[in-house]
Amino acid sequence: KPLHRIAVIAGDGIGQEVMPEGIRVMEAAASKFDIGLQFDRFDFASCAYYEQHGKMLPDDWKSRIGSHDAIYFGAVGWPEKVPDHISLWGSLLLFRREFDQYVNVRPAKLMPGVTAPVVRRDGSPRQPGEIDMVIVRENTEGEYSSIGGRMFPGTEREIVVQETVMSRIGVDRVLRYAFEVARSRPKKHLTSATKSNGIAITMPYWDERVAEMAKSYPDVTVDKFHIDILTAHFVQRPDFFDVVVGSNLFGDILSDLGPACTGTIGIAPSANLNPDRSHPSLFEPVHGSAPDIAGKGIANPIGQIWCGAMMLDHLGYREAHDAVMLAIEAVLRSGSAEVRTPDLGGKGTTREVGLAICQALQR
Ligand code: NAD
Ligand code: IPM
Ligand code: MN
Repeated sequence: KPLHRIAVIAGDGIGQEVMPEGIRVMEAAASKFDIGLQFDRFDFASCAYYEQHGKMLPDDWKSRIGSHDAIYFGAVGWPEKVPDHISLWGSLLLFRREFDQYVNVRPAKLMPGVTAPVVRRDGSPRQPGEIDMVIVRENTEGEYSSIGGRMFPGTEREIVVQETVMSRIGVDRVLRYAFEVARSRPKKHLTSATKSNGIAITMPYWDERVAEMAKSYPDVTVDKFHIDILTAHFVQRPDFFDVVVGSNLFGDILSDLGPACTGTIGIAPSANLNPDRSHPSLFEPVHGSAPDIAGKGIANPIGQIWCGAMMLDHLGYREAHDAVMLAIEAVLRSGSAEVRTPDLGGKGTTREVGLAICQALQR
């Protein structure tokens, strides 16, 4: 059987706590489905590494993780020690760009046994399946650009400028991916996040490319909303959405909001994909290092486990992906407070939830 080499980077804060549970479940899935997985752990891309070495990464980072089959990633950031823009541009954001992971797939789904904080108009609760969307985020350009600068620093004339970059190749490739995802789903519905009323150069361009791409997908229903009202619709009628595509920044915002509407950001996964497979793809939870709860052992590990399932799917093991998802659902459906973390109203620990999902998987 083939041996898949996975680069493991746990990072900071709760990244260190949820990663062991992710690996526990991946190893259980590997033994159940006879999959060859090898986990190679790296301590760089963390603020602890920065404190020791004065940089986020060793000079040879690219050759050390660039030929792995995937990167399994926790979370990076410890703003008390290292400014966020230094730690993130020195790690995660660099990986996305250098490995050309131009699509970020972020599902948001109301799971069985979870009460959504957003209710129907008549006040009744939303049911599992009612919220089931995939946010497809542009992941290498847009508002996350390094073009710009500061002029006259420290003076009254100080000016800062940062350009938004949209290339035709960059926009089209993420739109094509989003249309393909929409086409593969029963609703075949794609919503585009825009702001072409106010951001009057790049966003009309985005709309134009969406309209152009839509011509090749006559079977997909397409609509667009400005980002402001789109956030309101997420809260008031999340059942309307299927696939939602957005620029780097809009996709970032929507992919915290979508999961929050389904109960917690702690279960949300993300796949930073290089669909061309010329570089490894990176799988990480949507959430960050959560300094406010780090060290307490109460972080929800489901986001880390779910993105592990996406990694298995990416490696070609759909059955193993489905089994991990069923195990997550079984544990959530049980409704037991012992096997859910406080963000879901429970009193379970990170480890207890990880172990329960493992047991459900082995059953
Ligand atoms: P965060 O996602 O770390 O935390 C936001 C809130 O959600 C906190 O109250 C936290 O306790 C809670 N939360 C997050 N994950 C949880 C989980 N698994 N279980 C239970 N509760 C959870 O966002 P933040 O506070 O804005 O950022 C903290 C640090 O993480 C910053 O340095 C930020 O830059 C970084 N960050 C990194 C990533 C990443 O590595 N992908 C993503 C987001 C933020
Ligand atoms: C995410 C995070 C990152 C982003 C931060 C930490 C730079 O919020 O992965 O969603 O904005 O992409
Ligand atoms: Mn984010």
